[in-house]
Amino acid sequence: MGKTQHQNLIRKLIPCVLYTLIPLAVLHYYRYISPRCSVPTADKRLESTATTDSITPLVQEQEAEVKNLSWWDYSEGHWVQTRLEPLYNCTSCEAIKLGQNCMLNGRSDTGYLYWQWQPKDTRCPPPVFDASLFLRIIRNKHLAFIGGSIARNQLESLICLLSTGSKPELVYKDSDEHKFRRWVFYEYNATIWSFWTQFFVEGIQYNQSKGINHNTLYLDTPNEKWASELDKIDIVVFSSGRWFAQKAIYYGEGNQLLGCNFPQENNCTDFNFFDAFRKAVRTSLKEVTKRFYKSDKAVVVANYTFAHFEGEWNEFATCPKTEPYKDGDAEMPYLENEMRKSAIEEVAMAVKDVKEMGGRLKIETLDVTKLTFLRRDAHPGPYMFPNPFANGIKEKVQNDCVHWCLPGPIDTWNAILLQLMKRWKDE
Ligand SMILES: *[C@@H]1O[C@H](CO)[C@@H](O)[C@H](O)[C@H]1NC(C)=O
Ligand SMILES: *[C@@H]1O[C@H](CO)[C@@H](O)[C@H](O)[C@H]1NC(C)=O
Ligand SMILES: *[C@@H]1O[C@H](CO)[C@@H](O)[C@H](O)[C@H]1NC(C)=O
Ligand SMILES: *[C@@H]1O[C@H](CO)[C@@H](O)[C@H](O)[C@H]1NC(C)=O
Ligand SMILES: *[C@@H]1O[C@H](CO)[C@@H](O)[C@H](O)[C@H]1NC(C)=O
Ligand SMILES: *[C@@H]1O[C@H](CO)[C@@H](O)[C@H](O)[C@H]1NC(C)=O
Repeated sequence: MGKTQHQNLIRKLIPCVLYTLIPLAVLHYYRYISPRCSVPTADKRLESTATTDSITPLVQEQEAEVKNLSWWDYSEGHWVQTRLEPLYNCTSCEAIKLGQNCMLNGRSDTGYLYWQWQPKDTRCPPPVFDASLFLRIIRNKHLAFIGGSIARNQLESLICLLSTGSKPELVYKDSDEHKFRRWVFYEYNATIWSFWTQFFVEGIQYNQSKGINHNTLYLDTPNEKWASELDKIDIVVFSSGRWFAQKAIYYGEGNQLLGCNFPQENNCTDFNFFDAFRKAVRTSLKEVTKRFYKSDKAVVVANYTFAHFEGEWNEFATCPKTEPYKDGDAEMPYLENEMRKSAIEEVAMAVKDVKEMGGRLKIETLDVTKLTFLRRDAHPGPYMFPNPFANGIKEKVQNDCVHWCLPGPIDTWNAILLQLMKRWKDE
């Protein structure tokens, strides 16, 4: 990809982000529709997804050859077909947001459900989720997701996966779009929180109805919503990124104006959103390390994830693929690479800080950019709404090529999260 293409991509992405996120807000007005999802048998499925040259040999569930997990690297690898059924489905889990319940909304192809992530080093088995193991590890603990709609996507996947091991109770939810929620797995005395603070730091979201077209971010101030509850949390997962690509004005230390990322419209100093993202990650990690470096708590920062618009957000077949990219088919885009680098470097710095302070706090990256990037086939697309083609194919239809169908590849993020936690426990 050339540099101009990169710039074009960024320019194209910004409106995409705005257009896909705004419509999501109206989703909860849709009435619950009756389940119409079905899962075909494994044999039929393989027939329908198989093309002679694209079949990769099935990976058997291998026993780990080596007990020492610390060398397992999930960041590189490829997706291989599997016969394993997803642990949950479109009717068995109530936690799935309707906009991401693709099957319930009428998506009928199911090939995207049957892939497993094979790490590059083939001695590492595909990460497999084990609900009761996960629950045992978080027994008597609190785990929190902090971020935007992708964090929520992962959280809902985790609730669905864990529900196969023990039934949770939703003990708290806010009135608006389920931005702040809390589940308790009483059997394990384990609590899972969700904080909708998509900038990590304090910020004011753009508001069309007030005529405000940009976000305002206070990059040095951790968001009070999570910071005030942090004492209770044992494991924190930060996950955001995409929101930072929107128009924004930035304030730094002492609420001093740093600049904005749309200087051509707004006469202020150019301050790019990669730096803003990096600063927000740094502020958040600093807050956690400052308060808990001595503790046995843990922080995980999810790598940035990719969206797959191949056309305009409102055109038919804008993310129409039904198979993942094969590794090597496509290069990871500039924007994701930059975001990912920022997160990695900030994590490395925080780890060093904790070490220097003689602390024990664990800080890691949840390394999912690459595996997610390859999954162009698993976005809701038009199935963000129930039965989008009930009255025939339409040329103009809204698409979500940012979030992930549940069940879907984001379940693998949680399988990898489990591997991380297992490793902490073993160490
Ligand atoms: C979904 O899972 C539930 C519980 O395992 C099962 O009873 C139901 O038949 C499944 N539905 C579909 C469509 O596979
Ligand atoms: C596991 O492997 C890592 C990296 O190779 C090594 O540093 C560590 O000492 C090993 N731990 C055990 C318990 O063998
Ligand atoms: C449940 O977990 C909390 C910490 O999250 C702990 O303080 C409490 O003692 C635990 N309760 C039981 C019955 O173990
Ligand atoms: C936008 O402004 C309207 C009108 O003041 C308000 O009702 C709404 O909650 C605001 N939305 C957001 C996301 O802040
Ligand atoms: C932009 O701001 C600078 C410095 O504050 C000022 O000198 C300049 O006149 C402004 N330009 C416009 C077009 O407002
Ligand atoms: C994600 O972060 C890890 C560092 O924690 C890094 O090694 C890896 O390359 C990143 N992966 C991708 C695909 O961006």
